[in-house]
Amino acid sequence: MTNKFFYFQAAFIKILIGIAVLLTTNNKVTSKKIIEIFDIFFFLRNLPSNLNNEHITFQLPRMGTMLELIKQRRSTRTFENAPLLGKLCHDVHSIVHSDNTGPFKTPIKVKLIDRQEYIKQNRNMGTYGFVKGIRSCIVGVLDERSTNGMVDYGYIIQKKIVKLLQMDLGTCWMGGSFNRNEFKDALNIPSNKFIPAIIPIGKARPKSLIERALCSLVKAKTRKPFEELFFKDSFDQPIKDTQAGEWYTPLEMVRWAPSVDNCQPWRIVIENNAVHFYMKKQLSLESSLVHINLHAIDMGIAMAHFELGCKEINKFGDWKVFEEKKVNSDQIKYINSWKFF
Ligand SMILES: Cc1cc2nc3c(=O)[nH]c(=O)nc-3n(C[C@H](O)[C@H](O)[C@H](O)COP(=O)(O)O)c2cc1C
Repeated sequence: MTNKFFYFQAAFIKILIGIAVLLTTNNKVTSKKIIEIFDIFFFLRNLPSNLNNEHITFQLPRMGTMLELIKQRRSTRTFENAPLLGKLCHDVHSIVHSDNTGPFKTPIKVKLIDRQEYIKQNRNMGTYGFVKGIRSCIVGVLDERSTNGMVDYGYIIQKKIVKLLQMDLGTCWMGGSFNRNEFKDALNIPSNKFIPAIIPIGKARPKSLIERALCSLVKAKTRKPFEELFFKDSFDQPIKDTQAGEWYTPLEMVRWAPSVDNCQPWRIVIENNAVHFYMKKQLSLESSLVHINLHAIDMGIAMAHFELGCKEINKFGDWKVFEEKKVNSDQIKYINSWKFF
């Protein structure tokens, strides 16, 4: 109530100042006037969210099916710079610190950090300005930089991200545009350990210009068609969305998963007793991102989405490596399989 009163009062004063600025200085249209008009416009446009979210104290859970939720998800790169408080803070902590077991059982430590601690330590969070308004961030650590470890990292953290999404919190995977060494120093992580990626979380704000440019660069709103990603029995038999039958939901949830540069490296072959996951190697083989194997994280993310999709259609199973499926050519690498019970 106090917040509402404060913001209405502030809005009213801003409008008065705006009108005064417009009426003074001999009616000339100066750049200052234009800036002031824009400022008032954006202030009023954001007023409803300002009224509700001076601090993020509670959130309404998102409704709809898991598939709708996953399809609506987009990376958030502009956050409201506010701390998580009260019950929300408690809930986020318990999600982030709960079950950290992936299909390959890699030991992974995951932590929720608050940027305020960094400011106190005179640190700037090392994200090169790609993501604005970060206050809270998930950071995890691996003992070594293995493909299986990276798959597990993607899998366990994406499951947490989906729960946070249900609480209407935005997130963005960041594997390239952050300074690993700065994070390691700040968190006192020994030099032989590895941070595969960090994930800022919080309430989303309207997209910044940089964010809109970045999304259009990687065509973030589009995905490859079904028949380029999914197959029946062998890679010779692509599946169209209309042919997916009961598999439509889990596959569509994989299709809409986030991935590095939106390159969607997952390829899936469905057989009678299991669904096999392969990683398509990317053209930019020399890039440093590929060098640290971020695409293995993409695979873990896809596996998490697939498993959640199977839950939706009551197809129960578990992850199992099929030795006979192991291929590791220039083109493709076998990762893991979902074996039905
Ligand atoms: C493992 C991983 C690392 C990523 N690293 C970055 C990054 O460093 N900077 C960034 O802006 N986006 C990063 N992204 C986000 C992707 O660019 C984004 O998921 C993709 O473009 C699809 O867009 P969407 O998430 O909005 O659907 C990363 C995503 C994944 C899965």
